[in-house]
Amino acid sequence: MTYSTIAGTGGYLPERVMENKEFEKIVDTTDEWIRERSGIKRRHIAADGETTSDMAVAAARKAMEAAGVDTGDIDLIIVSTTTPDKVFPSTACIVQRQLEIRNIPAFDVHAACSGFIYSLDIADRFIRTGGAGCALLIGSETYSRILDWTDRSTCVLFGDGAGAVVLRAAEAPGVISTHIHADGQYEDLLQVPAGISSGYDQVRKARAYIHMKGHEVFRKAVAVLGEIARETLAANQIDEGDIDWLIPHQANLRIIAATAKRLGLPMERVVVTVDEHANTSSASIPLALDVAVRDGRVKRGELLLFEAFGAGFTWGSALVRY
Ligand code: UT7
Repeated sequence: MTYSTIAGTGGYLPERVMENKEFEKIVDTTDEWIRERSGIKRRHIAADGETTSDMAVAAARKAMEAAGVDTGDIDLIIVSTTTPDKVFPSTACIVQRQLEIRNIPAFDVHAACSGFIYSLDIADRFIRTGGAGCALLIGSETYSRILDWTDRSTCVLFGDGAGAVVLRAAEAPGVISTHIHADGQYEDLLQVPAGISSGYDQVRKARAYIHMKGHEVFRKAVAVLGEIARETLAANQIDEGDIDWLIPHQANLRIIAATAKRLGLPMERVVVTVDEHANTSSASIPLALDVAVRDGRVKRGELLLFEAFGAGFTWGSALVRY
């Protein structure tokens, strides 16, 4: 029996750090409001010309180094992003070229903030069925480019960055279970209402930004994340006492705390990066994992629960023995 396991992690954050205070000069907000309502203190913002693929490549190189593999070992690349460099080719193909890897499958996954969990689900299936032996999974996002910098209800919440993992075939799991869901009826609550077939050219100036009904998204996120955590524990016949670390999507500290409380997990066992990174969408889980691996909190053999929720709505979880 073949399983998949996380062999190494990497992360990349743009150099520019933007503090909450800076928003006080741009929109009608305060540092206190942003901290209290979201837990965010600062975020990183990509430099002019810095792209999703640039950040993805930087995170990928670190993950490969940590895993002790080189580009010749990689036989699958999946990039989760909702902020691709171009409509096509996929960001995964651009990353592949930059890494000088040839003739292996490379594609993007578009599942908004749940993208990394979707990628992990897909790559795990590739590896378990013999379709790949060493996969590079990257979540990379440049949300600063789809923010309306005059809309205080969204512009303070997001940041840029990339996280990556190398997933390898192994004799023991690794990835124990993945659970992915979607319900398209919530499209209007969280969207960038512009695209190619719906007339990007006419609308892009006015509407190619995040539109979010924050409070409704918040309520649904808390409900669904609680449910999926329970679903994951039940599917594996374990309880919350078996989980060493909850590594959730980092959208809002209050959502994270509510999920931990529903699970009965103390915050000491939750990895939180939303304060430093804000919401980096599909990059947030691999980035948080990388932070906690590199600072020594997450250790080999520990049991990790990942969970995410995002536009679509999409949501998902993964139980992983690191
Ligand atoms: O990653 C994808 C999923 N996304 C999320 O999970 C985000 C989910 N939503 C949230 O994180 C929260 O709903 C927010 C942080 C966006 C907002 O927190 P809230 O407690 O739900 O506040 P609210 O939307 O109910 O707004 C409360 C008030 C409103 O004023 P009124 O109508 O009560 O007078 C807003 O206009 O806060 C106002 N407000 C602000 N005030 C100062 C909204 N944004 C700001 C701001 N500064 N930046």
